[in-house]
Amino acid sequence: MSTIEPMAQAQLLELTQRAAVAAEASHELVFAPEDTDPRTSWGWWRFLSSLAKTEGLEDLAMDGVDEGFCQRGLDLPWLRDYVASHRADEHRHGEMLKAYLKTSYGDRPAYRSFSNVFIYGIGFRVLKALNRRDPLHVFVVLMLYEKASMEFYRQAIALAEAQGKPNLVTLLSAIRQDESRHLAGATCVIQMLKAQHPVRGLRKWGVRLWTRLILWDLSYGQLALHNGGLRKAFKQIGFDRPAFAKRMHEAQRHIKTLVSN
Ligand SMILES: [Fe+2]
Ligand SMILES: [Fe+2]
Repeated sequence: MSTIEPMAQAQLLELTQRAAVAAEASHELVFAPEDTDPRTSWGWWRFLSSLAKTEGLEDLAMDGVDEGFCQRGLDLPWLRDYVASHRADEHRHGEMLKAYLKTSYGDRPAYRSFSNVFIYGIGFRVLKALNRRDPLHVFVVLMLYEKASMEFYRQAIALAEAQGKPNLVTLLSAIRQDESRHLAGATCVIQMLKAQHPVRGLRKWGVRLWTRLILWDLSYGQLALHNGGLRKAFKQIGFDRPAFAKRMHEAQRHIKTLVSN
């Protein structure tokens, strides 16, 4: 047993319990149509659709991690419970966002972006194969998406509040609270995996590669042609792209520090 394990156990148990409370509270959320402004309607729909898609995929990206933990000598029931609660949260986020989209925007054809095909289609398939041997990579990927979601939701809550969408504010605030819990959980898991096996050689290169790939997926500058649709949506709803880019640079530095031995 590594020295970090008892502390990690206490922290992950607490996070799992808090997730159960949040799941229970989510039944109280109200979904009612509230977007009628034609100037921003498309932008919100496009932005929230993208969030819904990513949220649901985060759950699926964790397929096989329990097996990977066993491979790494971490066959621990409380770790499995934490992963199950994290997965359930992500699945619920995707479903709640889909429910909001359906009530406010009706049935629209799903948006199929380049990221959907390349990153989520091919990349996540590779990630799932890796999970069975080493869950470090998926937790690095999740950490980046968690960091991104904190900023996405922070801005979206402020914008929804300013644009008169109280139900959306409540929904996104509930999700954001879960995401801050996930950040703590992912940090703890990465520290455990690092304590068990140092991050060097191929493992280190793997972390770098996944970090670059996800940061590319989450880039929204003029040259990020794969995200042209979202850039247009951001403009429509008033999302601050430079502030988001700044947070992602911080996230990259955070990952680097976290995995360094
Ligand atoms: Fe989420
Ligand atoms: Fe999350």
